[in-house]
Amino acid sequence: MRTIEMQNGIVKMIDQRKLPHAVEIVECRDYRAVAHAIKDMTIRGAPAIGAAAAFGLALAARESDATTREEFLLDLDNAAKILRATRPTAVNLMWALDRMLKFARTQNAGVNNLRDALAAEAQRIADEDVETNRKMAQFGASLIDDGDTIIHHCNTGPLATVDIGTALGCIIEAHRQGKKIHVLVDETRPRLQGARLTTWELQQYGVPMTLIADNASGYYLRKGLAQKCFVGADRVAANGDVANKIGTYKLAVVAKENGAPFYAVMPTTTIDMTLENGDQIPIEERDAREVTHIEGVAIAPDGVRVGNPAFDVTPNKYITALVTERGIVRTPFKKNLLRMMDAASG
Ligand code: MRU
Repeated sequence: MRTIEMQNGIVKMIDQRKLPHAVEIVECRDYRAVAHAIKDMTIRGAPAIGAAAAFGLALAARESDATTREEFLLDLDNAAKILRATRPTAVNLMWALDRMLKFARTQNAGVNNLRDALAAEAQRIADEDVETNRKMAQFGASLIDDGDTIIHHCNTGPLATVDIGTALGCIIEAHRQGKKIHVLVDETRPRLQGARLTTWELQQYGVPMTLIADNASGYYLRKGLAQKCFVGADRVAANGDVANKIGTYKLAVVAKENGAPFYAVMPTTTIDMTLENGDQIPIEERDAREVTHIEGVAIAPDGVRVGNPAFDVTPNKYITALVTERGIVRTPFKKNLLRMMDAASG
């Protein structure tokens, strides 16, 4: 199945907290359950949580017992507030909610028809994500050469999206095209998305890989044992600064130091043209337990002070190119992103 689906008024998602030990499906029957699933990372990855928020709002539309359009739109606004507050960094979440709310406001329909129309709009958001990722995979695969060893951070595969993935989608596509590649999978502390999810996905596609500790990437780059880095993004500012999983910045700096191209792959829905630069991107701080415990087992003394930013910002000077469904964007990022986004909206 896809990472997330809606069937007969139930939102079903693969429980990403349980992988790779078990493949379990979580069923959400109301929008609060979807909000909870986003917050506790049952579902995660920027495009996947965008789709989850859209389906969540479609559930809110079904739950609302409003009889007038005004009351109904108010119920939607309130549900959107709760969904919006779940995770602050990935802008796909805000984008999907804004699109759903705007859609509801601009439909010339009664409450009953609006409920169905909103479910259909959420489904369109999910379907578009898959098509977008298919296009990105082609562009990204063109940057991968036969014989490349690629360092990948976090999880950006099918699970991080509705299907196919972003950066990992490009890698899987290059493998499908017959290129002989190898992936060095960063384990990605503290939540271990690389060790738990990326390895699981690459195994299914038969892509050759080696799991490495996050701290090992510098070793491989300096020895010339890796040629390229591919990562995803949770939000890209108008100047091309990229917010992504914590540790991305450190990887990008070491890649530049060692002359390895650094590619970030994202749909245009991850680009936030309202923010001038990456310093304006809100960074989520998560629970200390993610750092002090692994799979429920304490690895640090009780009461230790913890810092746990979930994302960092990589300044554009470390990025070789941004890969989107509309093509590959190179420097000057500010000018070229503006041109691409203007063409997309016009
Ligand atoms: O905290 P997560 O697991 O939601 O973080 C995910 C990432 O940082 C991914 O790299 C990003 O969402 C892009 S992948 C489609």
